[in-house]
Amino acid sequence: MSNNTVVNLQSEMPDLESYWMPFTGNRFFKENPRLINRAEGMYCYTTEGKQLIDGVAGLWCCNAGHCHPKIVEAVQKQAETLDYAMAFQLGHPGVFELANKLTAMAPDGIDYAFFVGSGSESVDTALKMALGYHRIRGQGERTRFIGREKGYHGVGFGGISVGGISPNRKMFGAMLPGVDHLPHTHNIEENAFSRGLPEWGAHLADELENIVALHDASTIAAVIVEPIAGSGGVIIPPKGYLQRLREICDKYGILLIFDEVICAFGRTGDSFAATRYGVTPDLITTAKGLTSGMVPMGAVLARGEIYDTFMTGPDAAIEFFHGYTYSGHPLAAAAGIAAMDVYLEEGLFERAKSNEEYFADALHSLKGEPNVIDVRNFGLIGAVELQGIEGQPTARAMQVFRDCYDNGVIVRTTGDTVAFSPPLIIERTHIDKIFETVRAAIRAL
Ligand SMILES: Cc1ncc(COP(=O)(O)O)c(C=O)c1O
Repeated sequence: MSNNTVVNLQSEMPDLESYWMPFTGNRFFKENPRLINRAEGMYCYTTEGKQLIDGVAGLWCCNAGHCHPKIVEAVQKQAETLDYAMAFQLGHPGVFELANKLTAMAPDGIDYAFFVGSGSESVDTALKMALGYHRIRGQGERTRFIGREKGYHGVGFGGISVGGISPNRKMFGAMLPGVDHLPHTHNIEENAFSRGLPEWGAHLADELENIVALHDASTIAAVIVEPIAGSGGVIIPPKGYLQRLREICDKYGILLIFDEVICAFGRTGDSFAATRYGVTPDLITTAKGLTSGMVPMGAVLARGEIYDTFMTGPDAAIEFFHGYTYSGHPLAAAAGIAAMDVYLEEGLFERAKSNEEYFADALHSLKGEPNVIDVRNFGLIGAVELQGIEGQPTARAMQVFRDCYDNGVIVRTTGDTVAFSPPLIIERTHIDKIFETVRAAIRAL
């Protein structure tokens, strides 16, 4: 224990020193702690009893709202009945039921679900599926992956290799060999203040043709993109862009992976971005909203043909040497089943879509406020990009984050962008309150 242990100021404030926090300025946080100890519906509550509207659904995950009673009950019941069942060679009913529910809502042709513990594991699993698929088909030289600049695919070595955010990569050596990147599609000069899908930029998908020409299609296993890039700054795909990627992948026998860790489960106003955009990839990576953030879980959803390709060899042989102790954990499966039921019974995907325009109006009303250089939206995803301060990147957005927190709203920042992804249960009064608070914070900068 170091000597600079933070003194307990509030009764509920634990000693903060030993916890090495993820993606957080540890020293700053420990000097300025913000702890949440309760949450319900649209709200989180701090250890000081302060109420905050959650403008980002936890971390883009609590899509059904916090502590939804049906999900809580399902997890409680599961914990009393079956804590764990061996994930390899044994199973439990819940995980099969969840796979059926997921594939029933997935795009046509996506018929299988492989469970993992997180979004990062989901991405690494999908990359391995792509390599295995080609190898079994006698195309083992297809080992390259094509990601995209500004892409975020979690923090596993596969994910950071195909990802395109420099601070997430630069400390960690050479990563996977043979990875190339498409250009990102963020362009303020062309697309500033677009509502929904930007008009400009579909041609950027054609860069895939150049990458194919450079490496030869026979060396490329898969292209992986987020339909809407989240952590890289909330980048909405230009009209026709994803369709174009699909066409080029089809032309060259390259698998297309959509990383829908943030997009799936209602965020875009449909079950998946793939269904909303009418573009079906070969593999979809998910996590977060899969259990509405209640228990960690991810899933890779795969086209039937990919699964079938693996189903070769002797009947009892293991077909895919991959999996995790907690693949399909009973508590996560119970939370997932309950979350899917809540989404469907409460019509939360439709609800997100029906609030999309109201949300967009509120968000775009920030155009013209000081330092606002772009506003972007799709479904219940929104972003306001601020002019960065010379030499102090991220400072302005962080100031907005702190001001909003002090005034009862949680927002998220990525670079100089302030991002919004509220629970799908959001009411219009919450939308008003969130954007009034953000407007005041921007004016106060
Ligand atoms: C698109 C995308 N992929 C992967 C991940 C990684 O998920 P996790 O943090 O659960 O590992 C994230 C997390 O935000 C994400 O946004």
